[in-house]
Amino acid sequence: MSTAPEASGGTGVAVQMTGLRRSYGDVHALDGLDLHIEPGEMVVLLGPSGCGKTTALRILAGLERQDAGTISVGGKDLTRVPANKRDMGMVFQAYSLFPHLTVLDNVAFGLKLRGRSRAERRQRAGDMLDMVGLGQHHDRYANQLSGGQQQRVALARALAIEPAVLLLDEPLSALDAKVRVQLRDEIRRVQLDVGTTTLFVTHDQEEALAVADRVGVMHAGRLDQLAPPAELYAAPATPFVGSFVGLSNRVPATVTDGRADVLGTAVPVLAGSAAGSGVALVRPESVRVVPDAGGAATVAAVAFLGPVSRATVTLADGTLVIAQLASSEAAALHVGQRVALSVEPVPVLVVAD
Ligand SMILES: Nc1ncnc2c1ncn2[C@@H]1O[C@H](COP(=O)(O)OP(=O)(O)OP(=O)(O)O)[C@@H](O)[C@H]1O
Ligand SMILES: [Mg+2]
Repeated sequence: MSTAPEASGGTGVAVQMTGLRRSYGDVHALDGLDLHIEPGEMVVLLGPSGCGKTTALRILAGLERQDAGTISVGGKDLTRVPANKRDMGMVFQAYSLFPHLTVLDNVAFGLKLRGRSRAERRQRAGDMLDMVGLGQHHDRYANQLSGGQQQRVALARALAIEPAVLLLDEPLSALDAKVRVQLRDEIRRVQLDVGTTTLFVTHDQEEALAVADRVGVMHAGRLDQLAPPAELYAAPATPFVGSFVGLSNRVPATVTDGRADVLGTAVPVLAGSAAGSGVALVRPESVRVVPDAGGAATVAAVAFLGPVSRATVTLADGTLVIAQLASSEAAALHVGQRVALSVEPVPVLVVAD
């Protein structure tokens, strides 16, 4: 997978955040964050609550000062440039439209600040609203729109000024699941169309994996890994990434000569794995379970999830392992049944126990 967007409009600039630090009292919100974003790329910052995502975004926007480190955009050092001169569009979690302005005037607001003519403002704001699918709602006020519509307006407003960089801080978290998925796909489509370099913050891993060129997993104020979604999932660089992104079983394993013995199968190990005996992080879809009257494992539960099901299986030593399989195969399993478990020989990360 390439790290550059496929359909960039060519307007993007590179963003470089280097060695950023920010403390609040004893809390190291950022602890040496390095993040380089390619022109036109969408990087999604993913991480648990309190790991420093919003702090990173606010420092990039100039809304917060770093204690140390530098920021450059398009090769220009922004460290001492105030927020209103940084040329960034922002969308936040909470709806932030001006309630006394119409939708069209909300979107045109930044253009007015920049001294564009009334005709140009109306044209550009109208185009932006068409782009986010709100062409018929120019004259409404914010309180006459649904949450999803308000966030579309916020996105149109952020993009209307043709910012060098687009910053999105959990823009979808107030929306219900269905609208959330629709709007995230729409944000990605618009971003690819316009080609704006984008930093998108979320703690929702499915959202991150779905829209990013690369996902940056943050942990305690720094990046653990920055990689395209499929690579992040298949080859987590640290135990934290392995357990934070996607479901992983923890299966006892012994590493010899770069291979791990996992449930009797020799499996290649990923870079960064522990040596000797440890615990392999094994994806549920890598676990194979077959009915076997002489098997050493027992089915503890089967959960039907539509096209796939998840079987929870107890090993002889009491370890619980979750296997994901096609629901058609899972139909042959029942609680209490004896089964044999094995794993696909895909590379795993082995961590110290
Ligand atoms: N103005 C502030 N004063 C004191 N502590 C702060 C301030 N802003 C952030 N922090 C602390 O810095 C750490 C990082 O906060 P930040 O808001 O960046 O986290 P986050 O990753 O965005 O979390 P969430 O997913 O909950 O939004 C937290 O421990 C937070 O309590
Ligand atoms: Mg936050």
